[in-house]
Amino acid sequence: MSRGLGDVYKRQIICSYIANGYIKLSSYAPYQACWKCDSIKNKVKWKKETTMNNNPIGVFDSGIGGLSVLRQIIKLLPNEKYIYYADTDNVPYGLKTKEQILEYVENAIDFLNSKKVKAIVVACNTATSVAIKDVRHDYNIPIIGIEPAIKPAIENRKNKKVLLMATPVTVKGEKIKDLIQKLEANDIVELIAMPKLVEFAERGEFNTERVKEYIRESLERFNLEEYSYLVLGCTHFPYFKTTLKEILPDSICIIDGSIGVAERLKEVLEENKILGSCLLYTSDAADDMQ
Ligand code: DGL
Repeated sequence: MSRGLGDVYKRQIICSYIANGYIKLSSYAPYQACWKCDSIKNKVKWKKETTMNNNPIGVFDSGIGGLSVLRQIIKLLPNEKYIYYADTDNVPYGLKTKEQILEYVENAIDFLNSKKVKAIVVACNTATSVAIKDVRHDYNIPIIGIEPAIKPAIENRKNKKVLLMATPVTVKGEKIKDLIQKLEANDIVELIAMPKLVEFAERGEFNTERVKEYIRESLERFNLEEYSYLVLGCTHFPYFKTTLKEILPDSICIIDGSIGVAERLKEVLEENKILGSCLLYTSDAADDMQ
């Protein structure tokens, strides 16, 4: 017997149910065609009272670096929509003045706001270091920044030192100094600026002899056996993990802050009740889809 649209029941399930694997979205995919059907309104059975917001999340960086963060975010929040903005006209941020970076960040946020994003991730350590305080104050949507993952490195360092690799602006910035001081890690963390890695990454050059030579020369002054962690404090740097592993002693762990940002974003969306949702339809009236 064929069914009219009036027989269709709509259920709303917050996306975390799907992400956690309670239901399989694919089994309901055929019913997404009913999405726009108004005639079912009276028969709606709301599965869960929830506030939601299906506007996109804006993510930006000076270039391709933030895509390494977006990848982690999508893994954690697969049912959200995203807009990525790469400020490629102004890359590299790490060699610019604070005033310039603040202006770039404000422009990026204005652009993403014009696309009606519900939250913004500054997927750039340099921009976060310079501008996060100001922009959080000036805009009234959640803005999440990225911080080098020094804390977990210090907690697990096994009495060895921690090396932080970032852009010159991040390395010289107050924000990183405050963080290291707060963790009482002045004698434990060494910092190194590696601006050329940003240029290499933007050119798509990750494992060439030139890249290896630059890394070897830059690390020459360190006795790497004294370190147990390399913290990647620039979102362009995870693309060099394979090359770095070839050069560093096996005992050094490489970590970055992208998982931390993804987790923080999820928390912020939950706190503000603006998680995206997935609308699901079924053609029968069964009560429970969990
Ligand atoms: N990817 C950015 C960061 O995390 C910026 C690199 C740059 O533009 O210099 O710092």
